[in-house]
Amino acid sequence: MTTETTPGTVVDHAQLRIGEKTFDLPLVRGSEGEVAIDIRNLRRDTGLITLDPGYANTGSCRSAITFIDGERGILRYRGYPIEELAKTSSFLEVAWLLINGEQPSQAERESFAEGVAHHTMIHEDFNRFFSALPRDAHPMPALAAAVGALATFYRAPESDEDVDAAVTRLIAKMPTLAAYSYKRSLGQPFMAPRNDLNYSENFLHMMYATPCEEYHVDPVVARVLDLLLILHADHEQNCSTSAVRLVGSSRAHLFASISAGISALWGQLHGGANQKVIEMLEQIASTEGSADLFLERAKDRDDTKRLMGFGHRVYKSYDPRASILKDACVEVIAKRGGSSRLLEIAMRLEEITLSDDYFVSRKLYPNVDFYSGIIYEAIGIPVNMFTVMFALGRLPGWIAQWTEMRRDPDFRIGRPRQIYVGPTERRLADSTG
Ligand code: ACO
Repeated sequence: MTTETTPGTVVDHAQLRIGEKTFDLPLVRGSEGEVAIDIRNLRRDTGLITLDPGYANTGSCRSAITFIDGERGILRYRGYPIEELAKTSSFLEVAWLLINGEQPSQAERESFAEGVAHHTMIHEDFNRFFSALPRDAHPMPALAAAVGALATFYRAPESDEDVDAAVTRLIAKMPTLAAYSYKRSLGQPFMAPRNDLNYSENFLHMMYATPCEEYHVDPVVARVLDLLLILHADHEQNCSTSAVRLVGSSRAHLFASISAGISALWGQLHGGANQKVIEMLEQIASTEGSADLFLERAKDRDDTKRLMGFGHRVYKSYDPRASILKDACVEVIAKRGGSSRLLEIAMRLEEITLSDDYFVSRKLYPNVDFYSGIIYEAIGIPVNMFTVMFALGRLPGWIAQWTEMRRDPDFRIGRPRQIYVGPTERRLADSTG
């Protein structure tokens, strides 16, 4: 096979034999050497489809945004290692990079930050939207509904200029909507955004300030929040991103597509895992000796319990985001002058699993959700906001994937097939007799 080709183009062919016939299938090679069999004409040429539950072995697109090597624990946005971005960039810089493909220049950085700062306000009519929700509404479905409802205020973007404006607007308004969802769940008045604060600082202000009391943002907390957002900013074709692409592939409004992504992210096997991690750690903390019991249950195939925050569809070694977060977790807890029982239990669980054959043989290591919940808790983010924080971080990735799909020359509406296993044709019983 030749390797000196434009990434994503055909480098060779594989042969598929069915009965007496042989079919040539193109092999496409990506920039990091991974190779795919292009089966788009398989059904046309052979009458067959592929069967791949959970799309675990299906490449749905060519993408130039994020590269993951799950075996080697590598994550890069637009070619830049996550470790480097985590150390040196702000969340808005990473958002720009993901969406536009290059690091922002000084002028681009400033004008993007200014554009975002000036679109943070929400239409007054949104107060009525929020007041229609139950008082104890979980902030995550409230956010999904609010972002969907935003599509009723702004027409679907068509030109590139419209898309750019919609993107800035959404990045600016998501923290406001997220904080509104939280304030609603407390029954507190909404706090207007402040343009003099940076992205993470402003979010903390809208979450914690009240009309009676100003909130003084701790720079340690604001920086760790920015770091968390950066680490969650994209993760190629995961469940929620695929949901965004699938909905967007019908040419649905950007905001409607993102709303679908938020809903997909809510599930406990995806973004909802960090809430489940904290619940698990608290349960373990409250019952002496239950860590071992919990691990035994997680390993029992007849028990549905899993060790939350462990395992990943793609990472078969340590999730690089988890190791950055583990260090940040230790640091932030020390800086805030506390200790964390939950962190101690988490580190102990990790230690046990690293020498337990069940976890080692299945390559189950901590994922991003294992330590993120402990940091959120240490900086005062309530448990029911954990997934919302994930959604805030993932937003630029969803947007980048949506815009990439929109410009893709291979663009087609998403429409998988199936192997039907239901009854063959039959007749209804005669109901008159
Ligand atoms: N605890 C115990 N056993 C596990 C765990 C776990 N957390 N995860 C996987 N396994 C076991 C499975 O039971 C299976 O065992 P078997 O081979 O004996 O049947 C084997 O490991 C492979 O697991 P799959 O479910 O096939 O792996 P898959 O790639 O489909 O699932 C997933 C990945 C959903 C993340 C899974 O590991 C899991 O449920 N983890 C816990 C939830 C979680 O932390 N989710 C967050 C993921 S990161 C994110 O979305 C941001």
